[in-house]
Amino acid sequence: MNQKPDPAAPVITIDGPSASGKGTISALVARALGWQMLDSGALYRLVAYAALKHSIPLNDVAGLERLARKLNARFETRLNGRETTIYLDDENVTTAIRSEKCGNAASTVAAIPQVRTALLDRQRAFQQLPGLVADGRDMGTVVFPGAALKIFLTASAQERAKRRYKQLMEKGANVNLADLFNEIAERDLRDSQRATAPLKPANDAVELDTTHMTIPAVVEYILKLYRERQ
Ligand code: DC
Repeated sequence: MNQKPDPAAPVITIDGPSASGKGTISALVARALGWQMLDSGALYRLVAYAALKHSIPLNDVAGLERLARKLNARFETRLNGRETTIYLDDENVTTAIRSEKCGNAASTVAAIPQVRTALLDRQRAFQQLPGLVADGRDMGTVVFPGAALKIFLTASAQERAKRRYKQLMEKGANVNLADLFNEIAERDLRDSQRATAPLKPANDAVELDTTHMTIPAVVEYILKLYRERQ
């Protein structure tokens, strides 16, 4: 996507830790408003996937920066935002980039400042009319500091591990709740302690603890906050 961002397009940013429900919530908010959505984590996952595929070591900063700059990725959304297919060089990688291996590699490449800078313009280009819901870790702090509404979603690590467990079990995966909890806690630590664009709420973000909230309640609350600001 080489388009220039459209400053007239409103942005809602939804940041938060792994498995906080950002992806689901962002998709539902975007659908309710008829806006587009940016899944920024998918971009880091794509860089990680390309690195693993081309055997580029995860500490080869120059190699990873080059990959991020020339990433030939395409997001195809259908059914009014209900389904997105992600292509990398015409390969359908929608499922492959969701593996835990790719997620962990993504968290490693995402800690490299050069990779983050290389992905900035690509992310900002998603700001198009009628509006954008941007999901990630630094959407409100770095990528869209002027967003109309910034949300920071949290939930206890235990609750997030339970949600991920349920999701993976439904897909037929053989997973262990204790392992998932440890992985989530490890990734939280890496994402929040890195020097560049660490996971943290923007000063003007609304923090929302969803541990005891249902998905529709969270979506409604975000839509209400946005309406109040218009
Ligand atoms: O949201 P996710 O699990 O798909 O993200 C994968 C990794 O990418 C995650 O470990 C942190 C990183 N990430 C990031 O650093 N900044 C973003 N805006 C989105 C994701």
